[in-house]
Parts: sequence; C-alpha cells; structure tokens
Amino acid sequence: MPAVESRASDTDLLAEVEASLQQALARHALAPTLREAMQYATLGGGKRVRPILTLRACEAVGGRRQDAMHAAIALEMIHCFSLVHDDLPALDNDDLRRGRPTTHKAHGEALAILAGDALTSVAFEVALDSPVRPAEIARELGAATTAMISGQVYDTLGGFAGAEGAAERLKLIHDNKTGALIRCACRMGALCGSPDEARLEALGTYGDAMGLMFQVVDDILDETQSTEHLGKASGKDRDAGKLTYPAVFGLDESRRHVDTLLNRSMQALRPLGTAAEPLRDLAKALATRTR
Ligand code: IPE
Ligand code: IPE
Ligand code: MG
Ligand code: MG
Ligand code: MG
Repeated sequence: MPAVESRASDTDLLAEVEASLQQALARHALAPTLREAMQYATLGGGKRVRPILTLRACEAVGGRRQDAMHAAIALEMIHCFSLVHDDLPALDNDDLRRGRPTTHKAHGEALAILAGDALTSVAFEVALDSPVRPAEIARELGAATTAMISGQVYDTLGGFAGAEGAAERLKLIHDNKTGALIRCACRMGALCGSPDEARLEALGTYGDAMGLMFQVVDDILDETQSTEHLGKASGKDRDAGKLTYPAVFGLDESRRHVDTLLNRSMQALRPLGTAAEPLRDLAKALATRTR
C-alpha cells in the first residue's frame, strides 16, 4: 500500500503554539504578579489564527515549521497585548474576552497596561531569537505593531489625515488595526522558509486580503452573534458609533466584501500550487467562522 502522508491539522499546530508560548513565558525573569497577568492574557484561549498562519506560510514555501515558531509566538504575544489594551476603559472598555473577564478586570488596570507593555518587549526578545533571519523578522514585526497601534488610534480617536469618505476611513482603520498583523503573520512565515521574491509577494498579497477579511467578519459577528457565543461583548460597535463595514455598507454588502476578499486571497495563492492547500482551507474557514 502506498504511504499516505498525513499533514498536521490546525488543532495540532494550535497545541504546538500553546506549548511554545507557555515555555517562552516561563523562561523569562518577571515580577510574579506581572507574570500572572501576562499568562492570563496570553494562555486563556484564543483561536491562534496569526501564529498558525505563520507556520503554514513557512511550510507553503517549503520551509520547516519549527523554524517559524519564534516568529509565530512573538506575533501572538503582540496580538494578545493588542487585545489587553483594546479592552481597557480608555479604549473599548470591555469586561469579557475569550469567555472570561478581561485582563484589567481580573488583574487591575495597572497590571493590564504593564502586561501589555511587557508582552511587547518579550515578543521582540523572542523574535530576535529566531533561528532564521532574526533581524528581518523583528523588523517586520515592529512595522506591523506600529501599524496596528496607528489603526487603534484611527479606530478610537479618529484624526484621519487625508482620508475623507467613510469607506476610505474604514479601510484605513481595518488595514492597520487588524490587517497589518495578519499580513505580517504570512510574510514572517514565508521569510522563515527562505522564499523567492515572487512567493514572498504572493503571501503578502494573501495576507493583505485575509487581514481585511478577518476584520470585516469580526464586524459582522459583532452585529449577528450573541455575547455568549463570541465570548466577548457583542453589539458594542454600533452602540459606540464605530466605523464598521455593516454600519457603512449594511450586512449583505459586507458579506459580499468577505466573498471578494476570500477570492482575492485564493488568487494570490495560485503561484504556490498544492503547497498552499492548508492556507486555502484556513481562508475558507475564516470567511465562514461564527466566533
Ligand atoms: C480579535 O482577534 C481582534 C481582532 C483583530 C478582530 P481574534 O478573533 O483573532 O481573537 P482571539 O485571539 O481568537 O481571541
Ligand atoms: C481590535 O478590533 C483590533 C485590535 C485589537 C488591534 P476590535 O475592537 O473590533 O476587536 P474585538 O472585537 O474587541 O475583539
Ligand atoms: Mg477596538
Ligand atoms: Mg474591541
Ligand atoms: Mg470587534
């Protein structure tokens, strides 16, 4: 009988990411209360979409996924920091995240702010320990983190420079606050697999489309799902007057945007052939996710 090669499932990758995150935090010298808050913020659930994308992008260009693990968990730390700060009273003021009290509710506001700070610095230490291209990985991660923070400023405070219409502003918010980290996930993974320029470019384009798609879906879920199902407060965007896809375009048009972006991400993967199959599956799953 011919040997059937079985590929690791996303659930397997999630377990690998969890274990690596746990080890990375355990290795660091941290004030005990800071460690607890960082562990709470990082290890309490989450879909791990970004690190899984990094590992899959690495494999898609022929790399070994263990070579991308540092980049993957460094990015997840930045993402967790972004959630902790996103939930603070000064930003979205949320009490529930991943089905539990938000970090500032469980550990107090000061520790939540400081845990976010420390997750950022530890993330860059981890990125610089990457066995492959550490400086490039850290530079990608830095640029994406800065873009994410700019996106949070547009989302929370406005101050749009030049972007006049609602649609233009919306794209500016979403590409930055969410798109940048997802694009970075794909590019860092590819970089760890030493791709040629065309495949790096292809994965960046895939990440761009997926990043925007991810936030359009998040906006739709905020309007259509319950708090219990999401594990975070739903219906908040409209109450807070946020600029979201459903608020600007309506739900049906927003769903069509998701389809368009999914198609764009599929097109981008064409040059990668069958090696990109897990990335295609992931894109489809993220287009139809309900939480
Ligand atoms: C939530 O991200 C914040 C957004 C950028 C939309 P996720 O939906 O990836 O959150 P977790 O990590 O799975 O909790
Ligand atoms: C969050 O966008 C983006 C970042 C955390 C950078 P949202 O504010 O929509 O995310 P949720 O809905 O709280 O997860
Ligand atoms: Mg927010
Ligand atoms: Mg929020
Ligand atoms: Mg949201």
